[in-house]
Formats: sequence, C-alpha cells, structure tokens
Amino acid sequence: MTKELTQLELLTELEPVAEQNLNRHLAMAKEWHPHDYVPWDNGRNFAALGGEDWHPAQSGLTEVAKVAMVTNLLTEDNLPSYHREISENFSQDGAWGTWVGRWTAEENRHGIVIRDYLVVTRGVDPVALEEARMIHMTNGAHSPDDWGGFLENVAYVTFQELATRVSHRNTGKVCDDPIADRMLQRVAADENLHMIFYRTMCAAGLDLAPDQAMAAITKVLTHFTMPGHGMPNFRRNGVLMAKHGIYDLRQHLEEVVQPVLKHWNIFDRNDFGPRGEQDRERLAAHLEQLARDVIKFEEQRDRLLARERARDMAVV
Ligand SMILES: [Fe+2]
Ligand SMILES: [Fe+2]
Repeated sequence: MTKELTQLELLTELEPVAEQNLNRHLAMAKEWHPHDYVPWDNGRNFAALGGEDWHPAQSGLTEVAKVAMVTNLLTEDNLPSYHREISENFSQDGAWGTWVGRWTAEENRHGIVIRDYLVVTRGVDPVALEEARMIHMTNGAHSPDDWGGFLENVAYVTFQELATRVSHRNTGKVCDDPIADRMLQRVAADENLHMIFYRTMCAAGLDLAPDQAMAAITKVLTHFTMPGHGMPNFRRNGVLMAKHGIYDLRQHLEEVVQPVLKHWNIFDRNDFGPRGEQDRERLAAHLEQLARDVIKFEEQRDRLLARERARDMAVV
C-alpha cells in the first residue's frame, strides 16, 4: 500500500525539481516588451480628450476574432484569481515562491499587450471590455468545491496553459492582421513554457506519489472547464469559438489532453496501486466518451455551417 503524502511533504520532496525547472525556465524564457507588439501609429484620442469614441465600423476584426480576443484577454485579466489559487497551494519559499512571482509577472504581460493592441487599433468596444473585466474579476475564478491541493492545481494548470496556447495561436490566425498574429504567437510561446514547467512538476508528482497524482489528473480532466468560466457570455462565446476552430473539442482532446497524458506515460505505467489503477480506468472511459462527443459535435457543427451557408446563398 503506497503511503499518502501530505501537501507539505509533497512540496518539500519536489522542491529540488522545482528549482531545476525554474532555472531551466529562466534560461529559456525570452525577454520581450509589450510596446514592441502594438501599432501605436493607429492610435488616437477618445471623446473625453477631444477625439471620437469607439463605434463598430472602426474595427477591422470579424465577430469571431473579437469574441476570441475578448475571451482570451478577460482570461489573462483574471490573473489575481489564478495567482491566489496557485500561491495558496504552492509554498511561498525558495524556488516555489520565485516561480509563483515570475509566472504572475509573465502572465500580466499578456493582459497588457492584448489590451494595448485592442484599444489602439479600436478592435473592440473599450467600454464593453471594461464592463466585462469588472464583472469577471469581481466574480473571480472558482474551481469545483472539492478541488484543491498542490497536485490538482498543478495538473489543472498543465492542461490550462496548453489550452490557452492553442486558443491564442488560433485567435492570431483569425484576426487577419499580421501584427495581431505576431503578438499572439509571442504570448502563445510563453504559455508553452509555462505548460512545460507545470507538466514537469506534475510528472515528478506522479513519480513520487503515483496514486495521489493519478487521482488528481482524473479529477481535473473529468471536471475540466476553460479558465474563462464565469465571464459574461462565456458559454455563447465558447460555442462560437468552438464552431470556428479556435478551441474545440477535438483540439482539446488531440492537442491538449492526449499529448500531455502521453508525455506522462499514463497508460503504460506500472507503478500504480489499486486506487491508481481504478482512476486510470475511469480516465480511459472518460477519454472514450470524449472521442464520441468529438464526432457528435463535429456532425452538428457541419450541419449548422451548411445551413448557414445555404442561408447566405439564398440572401445573395
Ligand atoms: Fe497568459
Ligand atoms: Fe501562462
């Protein structure tokens, strides 16, 4: 029977890995500056300073690009809430504390650059954006009630960082603006490095306490929601983004969940006890269901898009 490790034991045992991982991150992370990614020449005053306020005709972004940009930005804006979650479950000391601070500062840069771009280019309504930010940040982010602890958090952020990478990257593609695309590729590259840090920590957790880590991974994946949960119109906007391939179920399964599970060697490990085996079976069943849902979703999407195309043709 494997021994249950306490939160403190996990953090103490894993600190050398955290330190190594932090140093690798610092060596790999490229210094970049938000102001270099924003076309300041496009900027002008709003009415309060004698200029003109925003109206939709000023935006060069499609409806889908706007929704994706706002969703991604509000997610970045909600950083204090994620910071609280991470700092409560990681130690404040040593490599853990340095990582939490560094990660928070890097995430903040994402919100800065996306907001500057959107306001300067008049890509979205800045009043609506500010109202949505107030609502979203006031609500905060809530993980499921029975969710918490180091392993569940580290498993969640591994998938979440990779999910935001995919979402930023695909948002860049639908903006139809090389400046926006370059900015979001830059942000996505950061998210990838974050994912690598958390994926490495979770892998070390699996080696140290296989059954406990397996329970955390299964719980996180069977309850997974994108971090934007709780923002205004999250469901409607999520559906729109899925419909246009910015973040859909197939991408979730094939570009986020499966590669990480493969990296952790989940289905070929032989170090689980009975509890870990049970959780692994539950996860396998969940993945099979997800694969069936992908087909169902895509069939529905194809039908919907075909109907929309037919309607557009009839109008022409
Ligand atoms: Fe970010
Ligand atoms: Fe990140």
